[in-house]
Parts: sequence; structure tokens; C-alpha cells
Amino acid sequence: MTKEFEVAKVSEIPPGSAKQVEVDGETIAIFNVSGQFYAISDTCTHAQASLSEGEVEDLVVTCPWHGAKFDLKTGKNLCMPAVEPVQAYHLKIEDDAIKIVM
Ligand code: FES
Repeated sequence: MTKEFEVAKVSEIPPGSAKQVEVDGETIAIFNVSGQFYAISDTCTHAQASLSEGEVEDLVVTCPWHGAKFDLKTGKNLCMPAVEPVQAYHLKIEDDAIKIVM
């Protein structure tokens, strides 16, 4: 059974920014890229840096520590030193509420 968790307000994450949230024991990064929201695990699979602090370009986030890249839509790892993907999450926007569906 899926559950929805309201994690932030749309107005809290302006375009070009990201926010780290805690949901059901998971640390998740939510990104606003030109008004579209994406959610992946916040924890880099290489050495656990916070991906919400990374730079985003073309729907790819670059880890702030050693430069691994992850696809914001799928969580797929795109280059070394990360060899594992991060979890991607489904989001729902209702009015000003951003909800994660798990
Ligand atoms: S912690 Fe992310 S690339 Fe090393």
C-alpha cells in the first residue's frame, strides 16, 4: 500500500534550489528545476555526501564531494566514483503541497 507524505511547500523550494527532508526514516533531496520537482535519496552512494548541496545541470546533480553524477529522474549513477544508483521517489504536487509517494 502506498503512503503520501507532505514534505514541503512549493514556495519553500524556488526554481534552481533544493531541500533536504526526512521522510519515514529516509533522507530525501527535493530539487526544483525550472518549476519541475524531482526527488532522490539525499545520500550519495559513494561516501554519503548530501546531494541536495550539489550543483544541478540538465537534470543531473553532481555530488559536492567527489563529483559523482546522478540522474534526477531515475537516480541512476552516471559516472565514477559512485557505482550504485540512488533511490528516486515519486512526487505529487497538490496546491502548494509537495508530497512524496512511497
Ligand atoms: S561522496 Fe559523493 S562522490 Fe564521493
